[in-house]
Amino acid sequence: MAESKLVAQSSKFGILPTGEQVLKYTLRNSNGLEIDLLEYGAYLSAIRVPVKKGGVIDVLLGYDDLQGYLDDKIYCGCVVGRVANRIGGAKFTLDGHTYNLDKNRGEVHLHAGYSGMNTLLWSSKVNGNSVQFSCVSPDGASGYPGEVRADLSYTLTNDNEIVLDYSANTSKKCPLNMTNHAYFNLQGGTETIYTHKLTLNSSKYTALDNNLVPNGEFIEVSGTPYDFTAGKLIGQDIASSNGGYDVNYCINDKVKHSKCDQLKLCAEVETSEISMSIFTDQVGVQFYSGNFLDPSKLGKKGVPFFKHQAFCLETQGYPNSVNQPAFPDTIVSPGQTYTHATLIQFKF
Ligand code: GLA
Repeated sequence: MAESKLVAQSSKFGILPTGEQVLKYTLRNSNGLEIDLLEYGAYLSAIRVPVKKGGVIDVLLGYDDLQGYLDDKIYCGCVVGRVANRIGGAKFTLDGHTYNLDKNRGEVHLHAGYSGMNTLLWSSKVNGNSVQFSCVSPDGASGYPGEVRADLSYTLTNDNEIVLDYSANTSKKCPLNMTNHAYFNLQGGTETIYTHKLTLNSSKYTALDNNLVPNGEFIEVSGTPYDFTAGKLIGQDIASSNGGYDVNYCINDKVKHSKCDQLKLCAEVETSEISMSIFTDQVGVQFYSGNFLDPSKLGKKGVPFFKHQAFCLETQGYPNSVNQPAFPDTIVSPGQTYTHATLIQFKF
C-alpha cells in the first residue's frame, strides 16, 4: 500500500492542568486528504477532504482548542475504552466476583465511565504513515479489574483510507471492547445529516431495555424504520425512530475488503461530494444519529452543536456483552491480546 506523505509530524496543541504538553499530529496523503490526531484521548479531531468542486470539507465535529476536548462530554472523536457503550446496572460478574462500575448515566455505565481511556494522555510516535498511541489504564479504573496496556494506531494511505488498529493486554481477566466515537457530517455540519444516504450491511440489531441497554434479544430490521439494507436517506424515516437512531447493528458477514479478508463492509454513506465506506473485523456497529447533540455546547469555530447534526458509526462488540451470555464474548485473559481493526475509506 502506498504511503502517505507526512506533512506535519506534530505541533503543540495545549497544556493539561497537570502541566503536561499535548501534541497534535497531522497526516496528509498524496491526494490532499488530511487527518488530525490528538495525544489527549487519542482523538481523531479532523478529517479534511478536498472536494472536486473546490475547497475542503472537514467532515468531523470537534473543538478548536484543548479546553474544548477537556470539557467534552459527548465523546467527540475520542477512543472509547475499556468498554464501549452501556453496561446495564453498571456491574458485571466474572468468576464469581461482582465488579461495580462508575454509574455515569443514571444507573447505567456508559463508554467506560469517568476514567476511560478518553481521559488519558496517550504517548505517541510516528511510524511512516501511521501515528501510534499507547496508554496504561490502571487496575481498578472506573471499577474494572486489571492493568490494561492499550495501543491504537491511525494510518492514512494513498487509497484515502484511515485504518484504526487497536490492541490491548491485561494483567487480570476483564472485558475489552474499544471503539472510536467520531461524529461525521460529510457536508461539513452546517445542516442536519438527513440528506446523507446510508447503507448498513445488517439485517438485525440488538434490542434495548428502557435504559438503552441491550437486553439479549434481536430485532429484524425488515419492514421497520431501522432498515438501511438497501440504502436510504437518514432523514427518510428518522421521525419514526424514537427521537433518532441509537442502536447496535449486527454486521452481516457478506462483503470483504478487497485487500483484507478479515475486514467486512459494515456501512456506506454518500452525499453528492463525498462517500465513505467502513470496514471492520468487529461484529457490531452502533449507528447513533447525534440525538443528544446540544446547542448549549459549542464546537469548532464556536458554532453550537444541534440535534442530528452528525452521525457516529462505532464499530464494536455488542454492548453489554458482559451481562449477555448469548452475545459474542468480550472477556480477555492475561496472556491474550485484544485486537480490533476498522478501516474508513473516502471517495471524493
Ligand atoms: C453513544 C450512545 C449514545 C450516546 C452517545 C454519546 O453512541 O449509544 O446513546 O450516549 O454515545 O453521547
